[in-house]
Amino acid sequence: IRIAIFASGTGSNAEKIIEHFTGHPRIKVALVVCNKPDAGALNIAAHHQVPVLLIEKEPFFRGDAYVAALKQQEIGFIVLAGFLWKIPAALIQAYPNRIINIHPALLPKYGGKGMYGRHVHEAVIAAGEKESGITIHYVNEHFDEGAPIFQAACVVEPGDTPESLAQKVHVLEHLHFPRVVEEVVRRYEE
Ligand code: GRF
Repeated sequence: IRIAIFASGTGSNAEKIIEHFTGHPRIKVALVVCNKPDAGALNIAAHHQVPVLLIEKEPFFRGDAYVAALKQQEIGFIVLAGFLWKIPAALIQAYPNRIINIHPALLPKYGGKGMYGRHVHEAVIAAGEKESGITIHYVNEHFDEGAPIFQAACVVEPGDTPESLAQKVHVLEHLHFPRVVEEVVRRYEE
């Protein structure tokens, strides 16, 4: 199966997933889709010789613009790893139950539009939560509301800052996301 990873940021999750599948007999990260020409994810793709597709806002939100490109590249599964645009319905319909996302909090709390990056961790700390973590879920038409697949928690300690909490959450992401992607993708191989 050929996976496309959509990323907008540093791409540390993309890197872990690419490394996880390097040498895998049947699963391959075949494309990195990016919406920011200066994203770290592009350097990571180049370093691992993974082809890149740079997308533009208008055609993307028109919906079907990039579906043809993904199908032409025989992409069978999409992984969102720090991708900040909402996925248009046309793309979701083209990949039913084959788009998954990672969110740096324990959904259903602290999800939705605007809840990304440090904003999530600030909200968790401001609310006095004792724990936070990651949620890996299927993507549907609404931000962060698709069926959950996997969650892992970390403690929020007094004195934690958005940065220190983000660090703990990144550890969980890098530890679990590649394996969960493999578990989910293999369900579609049978
Ligand atoms: C991660 O915190 C992820 O949970 C969120 O965006 C961030 C991506 O980080 N969706 P990176 O670009 O993979 O380092």
